[in-house]
Amino acid sequence: MSTGYDALEDRYLKPQRGRATMLRMAKDIFHQKKESAIFVISVVITSVSGVLYPLALGLAVNAVLERNASLLILYAVIFFTLYFVQFFSNRWMTLSSTRVAQGVIKRMRDTSFQKLQKVPLDFYSKVRAGYLISRIENDSESISDFLTYQLPQVISGVSTIIIAAGIMFYIDARLALFSLVVMPVLGIFTLLLQRRVRTNYLRTRRTIAAITGNLAETIAAIRTFKAFNAEDQAYTRFERLNRDNFSANMDASRLSSSYGSVIRVIEAVGIILVIYEGSVSLLDHLISLGILVAFIAYVQQFFNPIVQLSQLYNTYQNSMVGASRIYAIIDSEPERDVGSKVMDSFNSSIGMNDVTVRYDDSVALEKVTVEIRKGESVAVVGRTGAGKSTLTNVVLKLKYPDGGSVTVDAADLMDIDTKSYRNLIVPVLQEPFLFNGSIFNNIEYSKSGITREEIQSLIERYGMEHIFRSLPGGLDSPVGEMGRNLSEGQRQAVSILRAFVRNPEIIILDEATAQIDSRSERNIINAMRKFRERGTLILISHRFSLITLADRIIVLEKGKVVQQGTLSELSTQSGVFRDLYKRSVG
Ligand SMILES: Nc1ncnc2c1ncn2[C@@H]1O[C@H](COP(=O)(O)OP(=O)(O)OP(=O)(O)O)[C@@H](O)[C@H]1O
Ligand SMILES: [Mg+2]
Repeated sequence: MSTGYDALEDRYLKPQRGRATMLRMAKDIFHQKKESAIFVISVVITSVSGVLYPLALGLAVNAVLERNASLLILYAVIFFTLYFVQFFSNRWMTLSSTRVAQGVIKRMRDTSFQKLQKVPLDFYSKVRAGYLISRIENDSESISDFLTYQLPQVISGVSTIIIAAGIMFYIDARLALFSLVVMPVLGIFTLLLQRRVRTNYLRTRRTIAAITGNLAETIAAIRTFKAFNAEDQAYTRFERLNRDNFSANMDASRLSSSYGSVIRVIEAVGIILVIYEGSVSLLDHLISLGILVAFIAYVQQFFNPIVQLSQLYNTYQNSMVGASRIYAIIDSEPERDVGSKVMDSFNSSIGMNDVTVRYDDSVALEKVTVEIRKGESVAVVGRTGAGKSTLTNVVLKLKYPDGGSVTVDAADLMDIDTKSYRNLIVPVLQEPFLFNGSIFNNIEYSKSGITREEIQSLIERYGMEHIFRSLPGGLDSPVGEMGRNLSEGQRQAVSILRAFVRNPEIIILDEATAQIDSRSERNIINAMRKFRERGTLILISHRFSLITLADRIIVLEKGKVVQQGTLSELSTQSGVFRDLYKRSVG
């Protein structure tokens, strides 16, 4: 069955192999040295005191048979002490395991979040947001369960098995061997199933990621779905993904339950062997009744954790699959940021020299050579898909050229420190993203510490007062999720103010094609006209009125520069520019 929802994601974020993930997880656990030490010690104490019960019990039975009252009291005291110790170690175990587990999860989430800020923009055109959210949320939840509740059982199980086996061999090696006869069968059986279990869990994680991804997308696009009467289609798609997830979980559960049953049968065979052999020895007076009682208790103690571990194996696989998916995010290539040359000011020019940019197999910019000098206003125009936004991203250092170079004041952009560069050049983006909060909050994040008064004076200086006049709350009006409460023009204005508060030397305006009313348009033009008096302006627009602000116009067509010149020069030439602005160019 091919659903196609994970193909791209997995190609980009490869899940790690099981063993490597396990070792890495162990490293993450022991990273918290003190807590993990307390954790391991308390788990071991708990299981050791648990393993000593049957011995105390068997010896007490023998004391009763021998009618030795003082020995009986001694064993009773030992019994009680063991309970007492276990009570405290259990408490320590629970607390420390939770702390270790939550610490590991927190570190994973923190580092993957940090990584998501560092990956190049391309990453996000490959991997969908919902899938990433699912990894960081759902996958880490599966790890949390495992570490908090199951891992203590694994460690205590393993120590119980080792200690119980030691005691069994000490008491009666022959009987001990009998109880271990079934172990190889168990081992082979587990190995055979391992791959299937892992594959199955990978499927459950992928399908839940697909659901989260789909949910995020559908909710974000709810207007579109309603407007186009596509609710049924959305539902059908969701239902299919949900069904995939359902069957993946059922398969996983089916596999684990049949695994559990088979293990129980193997255990029963082991115990029957011991009871048979033990009874024969007892009748032959080779061992005492107390020892046989203790031994049978040990066989059970020995198998219990094995059965538990076999069931845990599923949770373990599930969480390892989850961990490998989070590690894949953490391991993704960060933006290669080699630049270290700090730039305090922009002095002469930005130059693109034979810049070529490719997306997968399409060429978005081909050998583009342009120069933008300080103080100049340059418009970049062209049909939709011509490569204008790509050019913006290259100049902003958000996209690295695949060929050619970009120089700023004669230094290669790749050598320039990105942070300092982005203080000089600020974008007004095509789709300004607004966070839920007030207008003020949305401007403030671009420059922390800015006051309402400073923003207000910028609004006046750039003649943008009209834009927010209809909002009763002024700068404190809520923008709504993704800025839904604002008009296109108001959103645009917030985006412009975000740029202005940083007091940049260069502004790149990549303007939305969406229509805004003529008054907002005039406001934006006025603001840009004021800015060009003191700064460098790069304008990308379909709007003729904005283009008139430019000293020079660069025309892109299919990723190539086809025309360049002033408005009056281009107006008289026949070519793409004339085609685009036939009516406006009088
Ligand atoms: N992330 C991407 N992955 C693959 N192809 C892309 C990506 N971004 C842009 N492209 C392609 O590159 C070409 C140039 O896109 P670009 O966004 O630069 O156009 P544009 O000139 O800004 O168009 P518009 O005027 O519509 O904004 C287009 O063919 C587009 O399909
Ligand atoms: Mg664009």
